[in-house]
Amino acid sequence: MARTPTRTRTAPPQPLRRLTAALLFAAGGQAAPALAESELTGAALALHMGCYNCHRTPARHDAPTFERMAAHYEKLRGQEGAAAKEAEHLRRGEPFRRIVAHEQLSPETATKLMQWLIDGAKPASAGG
Ligand code: HEC
Repeated sequence: MARTPTRTRTAPPQPLRRLTAALLFAAGGQAAPALAESELTGAALALHMGCYNCHRTPARHDAPTFERMAAHYEKLRGQEGAAAKEAEHLRRGEPFRRIVAHEQLSPETATKLMQWLIDGAKPASAGG
């Protein structure tokens, strides 16, 4: 019976270790309170949640741009509960492909993001 050689555990690559250390420090140190998901809205929240990785202009991974999605969802503007309903669809991957970035959203965050889209997906710096 051939014995499989014991694999030496490989340490995580250096940048990852540094990031982990930074995160641990941030969590334990409580220096500057990082902005939490719950405190962010609109474009800042979309940026924080990584949505722009795919939905920026020009978009990647055949994702529609936020501009296009805003045009698509405009018809729901002012409709009570529309954002929450669309948020559920997004999280469940219906009727779209299953995308982790969508599925891992909390209902609250997904609803906020959908409301932002329905309201026109304005960039954070747009002054009106
Ligand atoms: C890994 C790339 C990726 C990331 C990250 C991503 N998306 Fe998507 N998203 C897609 C793709 C691809 C589609 C199109 C799916 C399809 O056509 O089946 C899509 C579709 C959508 C749609 C439906 C658009 C429509 O017109 O039907 C919404 C809404 C959406 N994404 C919102 C978000 C939000 C909000 C985030 C941030 C939490 C996000 N996405 C992050 C790739 C991504």
